Amino acid sequence: MPRPFRILPRAGSTDQLSIEPLAAEHIAKLIDPLLDPKVYQWIEPHRDEASFWAFCEAIIAGPGDRFPDQTWWNHALFDRVSGAGVGRLEATFIGDQVEVAYLLGSRWWHRGMGSEALNWLVDEIRQAAPEITIWATVHPENEPSQRVLLRNGFSEVHDFPDTLRSYDPGDLVYLFDAKQD
Ligand SMILES: CC(C)(COP(=O)(O)OP(=O)(O)OC[C@H]1O[C@@H](n2cnc3c(N)ncnc32)[C@H](O)[C@@H]1OP(=O)(O)O)[C@@H](O)C(=O)NCCC(=O)NCCS
Repeated sequence: MPRPFRILPRAGSTDQLSIEPLAAEHIAKLIDPLLDPKVYQWIEPHRDEASFWAFCEAIIAGPGDRFPDQTWWNHALFDRVSGAGVGRLEATFIGDQVEVAYLLGSRWWHRGMGSEALNWLVDEIRQAAPEITIWATVHPENEPSQRVLLRNGFSEVHDFPDTLRSYDPGDLVYLFDAKQD
């Protein structure tokens, strides 16, 4: 079994975002952006506020004994100007691979925030683990997500490990290519 990845997630910022390791005190600010039904066109939605709280508490608690080979980084995204909740980031480490995902409330789309958040996360991962391979899986109809990946150093690949946790049959798979930097 691959050993879990030990480096803790850090706080940071981009031009438009402040970024914090997800904590219980962030959840209230994320309800508005992340219970937005538009966010879940291609992703399993949260049923209601209570299930969103429970979900956030579970990801903050981490993989624990259920997934002993995994490490989870979860971050909350905030608008740097207003402090409002914008969305969240996740990175799932298993062995020498990590999968990334990003979700922003729809009122924040089309401002470059998705790209800023993804770039920040990729930089953090590369500093923490320079040799790791960085993957993303996307529903084939999720064009905004595919554009964000293609603009930010990822390429679609057809050969990928069967250990990707977020892969559903039919998904497109993207791999970060450091040479495109
Ligand atoms: C995918 C997602 C994160 C994209 O976020 P975003 O913040 O809108 O992404 P960006 O702003 O970086 O790029 C999107 C568009 O904004 C444009 N844009 C980039 N910078 C901009 C700026 N400064 N001002 C205005 N527009 C800008 C881009 O050109 C791009 O345009 P296009 O979509 O017409 O090609 C967002 O749509 C989302 O959260 N979707 C729901 C959840 C999801 O599906 N997540 C992915 C699967 S894990």
